[in-house]
Amino acid sequence: MPGPSTPTLPGPRAVFRAASALPLGARLHLAVRRWSAPWPRVVDGLEGERTLLDVGCGPGLLAFLLESRGAAGSYVGIDPDERKVSRARAWLGRLPRRTFRACELSEIRKETFDAVSVVDVLYLVPRAEREAFVAAVAARLDPGGRVVVLTSGGGPRWKRLLDRLQERLVVAVLGWTRGSAVEPCDGAEVAALLAAAGLVDVRVEDAGAGHLHGFELVSGRKPE
Ligand SMILES: C[S@@+](CC[C@H](N)C(=O)[O-])C[C@H]1O[C@@H](n2cnc3c(N)ncnc32)[C@H](O)[C@@H]1O
Repeated sequence: MPGPSTPTLPGPRAVFRAASALPLGARLHLAVRRWSAPWPRVVDGLEGERTLLDVGCGPGLLAFLLESRGAAGSYVGIDPDERKVSRARAWLGRLPRRTFRACELSEIRKETFDAVSVVDVLYLVPRAEREAFVAAVAARLDPGGRVVVLTSGGGPRWKRLLDRLQERLVVAVLGWTRGSAVEPCDGAEVAALLAAAGLVDVRVEDAGAGHLHGFELVSGRKPE
């Protein structure tokens, strides 16, 4: 948990201003993304990690927010959509300890990390492939390493309907996000997948309070 001196995260306006190197649409998208998801919960769950793999990093918002809190560990963001990776590079530039790669998780074969984050990605992975995908996430963790997954779920039924509508709109209609599927994946499903992958201390927390959408934060640890 953040202490009393932990700086607050940049809000949507600050994200919009910080992304001035990007076209207006991309800046607005980042600001809305900052506003709409429980980022402080995600960042709190990852602070202090020395090495992080961010699976489905999109345009780099998590990297930006972690650095705004002074995180100085190494960061690898991967995303199969080269448009997102180019945007992350154009926004955040290059640092020796931070890389963005346009690739699939299956292409990261040797490296392992203290932590792996999967923020709003699993609904884009077909249900039949999720077990293998989460096993591949777990395989990238060092012994004792942590995985943090943010996924849609929880809250009243109308929030889940809204989530589904927005997910379909953004992927199938507008094409802003690419994925092999648009199939809901809630916290209970993620928790079962993490346990099946051999992770322990698996926890599901409701993270949607105060947000228009329902969110669940799921974490787990690889045994030492
Ligand atoms: C809703 S966006 C979330 C982006 C970022 N994590 C965030 O929260 O701002 C989902 C991202 O997952 C990526 N994605 C889709 N399928 C993926 C896969 N099989 N492996 C990794 N990332 C994937 C998409 O390209 C997209 O950038």
